[in-house]
Amino acid sequence: MFKRIPGTKDILPEETSSWQTVEATARRIFSLYNYQEIRTPVMEEASLFNRTLGATTEIVQKQMFLIHNQEDTYALRPEGTASIVRSYLENNLEKAGGFTKLYYIGPMFRLERPQKGRLRQFHHIGVEAIGSTLASLDIEVISLAEQLLKGFGITGYQIKINSLGCQKDKQALSAALKKSLPEKLPQLCADCQRRAKNNVLRILDCKNEDCQKIVKTLEAGHTHLCPDCRSHFEEVKRGLNDLNISFQVVPQLVRGLDYYNRTVFEITHSDLGSQDAIGAGGRYNDLVRELGGPELGAMGFAFGVERLLLVPNALKQNPPKKLVYLITLGEAAKSAGIKILNQLRNAEIPADTDYLNKSLKGAMRAANDAGATFVLILGDDELKKHAISVKDMASSTQKEVSLQNLIQELKC
Ligand code: HAM
Repeated sequence: MFKRIPGTKDILPEETSSWQTVEATARRIFSLYNYQEIRTPVMEEASLFNRTLGATTEIVQKQMFLIHNQEDTYALRPEGTASIVRSYLENNLEKAGGFTKLYYIGPMFRLERPQKGRLRQFHHIGVEAIGSTLASLDIEVISLAEQLLKGFGITGYQIKINSLGCQKDKQALSAALKKSLPEKLPQLCADCQRRAKNNVLRILDCKNEDCQKIVKTLEAGHTHLCPDCRSHFEEVKRGLNDLNISFQVVPQLVRGLDYYNRTVFEITHSDLGSQDAIGAGGRYNDLVRELGGPELGAMGFAFGVERLLLVPNALKQNPPKKLVYLITLGEAAKSAGIKILNQLRNAEIPADTDYLNKSLKGAMRAANDAGATFVLILGDDELKKHAISVKDMASSTQKEVSLQNLIQELKC
């Protein structure tokens, strides 16, 4: 028997209602903020990600699913931001008014070592707002992320924010780190020793506890920020405070993708163990230009849907289901039943029946298992009277209703 690939997941019918609720809630909230949906291919040229996420990042170095064909190398998208900026430029979306708010829901792929909360195919719900450098956009994007969490019924999360500053500030921070690193280097993990050479900022948010202790002693405050970046960050913090959004400033938060500058943020949940980030994002003011477009500010975030659903009590309340289950007794009733089912569905009443020729008792059990709210029983006697028995499963009461009035009866 075939088995699914490690790190992938079948989302089974018992789970899909939670997924649908997450997606419907997200779509409703996105429309309140005037974001429009974009759907890009799950495959892109691999070089798009090398160029934007950074050639030395873990995703590009180790985690891309690559597809080699004769001329090109494609990658299954490891994230959405690069694809969306590519699409934004390719389709001239900036012509639509200079500022564009987009959202996306879909699968992402990373060749990671699978564990709880870390999959090789997972799903993002995210946004990208392209065309503004204003701090008011940072505030809106972070408050939208919080609004989604509230909509999903999630509490107990922590919002962590930081400012990396502009490209020059990032370079200044890297230089300061490189200066203070040499004597600490032997105490860092093997990954960080490599990062010291090719991506020193990433040492700051290494998850290894020993590295974290050392990192705390390194220069990583906001002294490297230029006056503009500093005042932008102050404005963002003020705006979040004005909206009563609780956040923690974490100077070590740098995020694992090279395109970020200025504001970055991460939302964690303490009930999730080691993979505790449920979502993250930030500004990427240089990315549009980097991909051949104009100089434009942009900001976004993405939630990992699988991780959201791991949070205890998130979206556990399934919407009440309405299902009418028809049981027919005898051949004449069976063919009349097909028409009745059709009428119910045409009247937008969800309806089902038994396709296994079960006994009345067996069909009643199947109706119960299917979560039927009403069971209709149609036998020869009822058929002769142009009537049908309607059993209300909640109250266990049963009455006979004329076929003519059935829809009306079930609709009230
Ligand atoms: P990211 O932090 O790489 O950011 O991913 C966002 C979220 O996706 C994470 O916080 C986590 O919840 C989830 N996630 C990441 N990897 C996995 C995995 N292997 N298995 C399950 N869940 C995972 C980005 O991808 C950026 N594109 C976000 C962004 C949008 N920044 C600006 N705009």
